[in-house]
Amino acid sequence: MEQTFVLLKPDAVQRGLAGEILARFERRGYRVVALKMLQADRELAERHYEVHKGKFFFEGLVQHLTSGPVVAMILEGENVIQAVRTMVGSTIPNQAAAGTIRGDLAVAGLRNLVHASDAPESAEHEMSLYFEDVEVLEYQRDLDRWVFES
Ligand code: CMP
Repeated sequence: MEQTFVLLKPDAVQRGLAGEILARFERRGYRVVALKMLQADRELAERHYEVHKGKFFFEGLVQHLTSGPVVAMILEGENVIQAVRTMVGSTIPNQAAAGTIRGDLAVAGLRNLVHASDAPESAEHEMSLYFEDVEVLEYQRDLDRWVFES
């Protein structure tokens, strides 16, 4: 079973869209195995986006990410990394297809509401930046119950 990391950026929280976006993932059938609201500091934002360091949009990205509370989550399901990227839509909101989160809810430049991991390696890295192992639930299908990893 695959896991991915999703971050609802400050514009999603400020606009009151966190519940709507989370609901889309839930309705699709992905399981939320970790969830929290936090205020990212500069160090966390820079580590999150370190692959973009040096690019012209890096500073704006870090400033946006640290501008208010975010909601971090780990979603689990088959092929969840690619499927969630498809649900999120194109990076530039005004180019995103209708039916996607960005295509339905966003139009402006950097304010693209959501970040979702693009590969298993980045998912692993991003999950470890935002969550301790003990914060991640494990669903035991055979026993039909939730437990914390230890
Ligand atoms: P996100 O999915 O969070 O991952 C990297 C972010 O960099 C992306 O969303 C955008 O917010 C930002 N980004 C990527 N490419 C560009 C670009 N060409 N111009 C501005 N911002 C960009």
